[in-house]
Amino acid sequence: MEETMMNLPTQNNGDHSKEVIDEEDAKAASKIWDYVFGFTDMALIKCAIDLGIPDLIEKNGGSISLSELSSSLSCSTPHLYRIMRYLVHKNIFNQKKTSQNNLFYSQTPLSRRLLSNGKNSMVPLLLLETSPTMLAPWLALSKRVLQENGSAFDAVHGEDVWSFSAENLEHSRLINDAMACDARIVIPRVIEECPDLFKGVCSVVDVGGGDGTTLSMLVKGFSWIKGINFDLPHVIDANLVACQGVEHVSGDMFKLVPKADVAIIKWVLHDWGDEECIKILKNCKEAIPKDKGKVIILEGVLEEETNDKLESARMMLDMVMMAHTTNGKERTLKEWNYVIMEAGFSRINVTRIHAVQSVIEAFP
Ligand SMILES: C[S@@+](CC[C@H](N)C(=O)[O-])C[C@H]1O[C@@H](n2cnc3c(N)ncnc32)[C@H](O)[C@@H]1O
Repeated sequence: MEETMMNLPTQNNGDHSKEVIDEEDAKAASKIWDYVFGFTDMALIKCAIDLGIPDLIEKNGGSISLSELSSSLSCSTPHLYRIMRYLVHKNIFNQKKTSQNNLFYSQTPLSRRLLSNGKNSMVPLLLLETSPTMLAPWLALSKRVLQENGSAFDAVHGEDVWSFSAENLEHSRLINDAMACDARIVIPRVIEECPDLFKGVCSVVDVGGGDGTTLSMLVKGFSWIKGINFDLPHVIDANLVACQGVEHVSGDMFKLVPKADVAIIKWVLHDWGDEECIKILKNCKEAIPKDKGKVIILEGVLEEETNDKLESARMMLDMVMMAHTTNGKERTLKEWNYVIMEAGFSRINVTRIHAVQSVIEAFP
């Protein structure tokens, strides 16, 4: 009742501010439902992936009828219809109705990113972020804020994400697959937009390199480099795919980083607080030659004022770090400069690329 009245022209023609407040309030009354049921979008995307709907549409030549879809899935048509109606409403799929009232679904640029083997597939990242292990800490975020040394992940799982992964190899595999998925998105941007990054470089160590996807792509893009993929033992011992030109080495980056001309470190430092970052960066500096070495950091750089459409992803990632790590965070340029200089580097060079991450070169 109240909301209907708010949409009516105001009785008080002279009071413009009241009209604005009424309009804002009316917007809020509908917007608030996005937050009340905010989880629906993520859950429905996961549902579409779990059912393999984007893959089925692709296998069917790019378009599929509701009845074909429900018979392929051997599932209830009314339920499937409602799921597809929601996903069409959210512009995830396109829908066409024939003159006989048959419904056909086809892909959009968004649903193509939900293909299991698509070029820009985000499926492994979605599966990690929608796993019960990663969702649970979000509900304990306030504990993280209220306790001085609290961690939402620890509060729920009793240990940090890396110890948890060492004991739960299925979760470790989810993380590795998600990171490999991100590498497939960002590394082609690095290769294309920074062609001189590895000029004159013979060897590269990828610190916290996960399953080695980053290095395997870099040694293909820059064929003259040899790579060392360095990560914790439970990651390296997990039957990693062999790649010519890449050696897998296990160890602890807080103790020692294997020697190479260049150390690259992607989406690792944002998992840690400043003191830990300084320690890791000092070990990276020890690993490279003083005269011609450098550390390449692939991380987001937060900006206060920007029109970059990916800034929202960086802001969300900062909250992800709060939920999933103990002291991790996304950093501004000033904050990156601080940890890099504290680790003893003399200068940095930042290159923005078309990705969530930037390329930060740190020179001894
Ligand atoms: C967020 S993942 C990033 C993986 C990869 N760099 C990428 O972005 O594709 C962080 C990586 O750091 C590794 N890591 C955590 N603690 C480590 C340590 N003490 N020594 C070496 N690696 C570590 C994890 O096992 C994990 O593979």
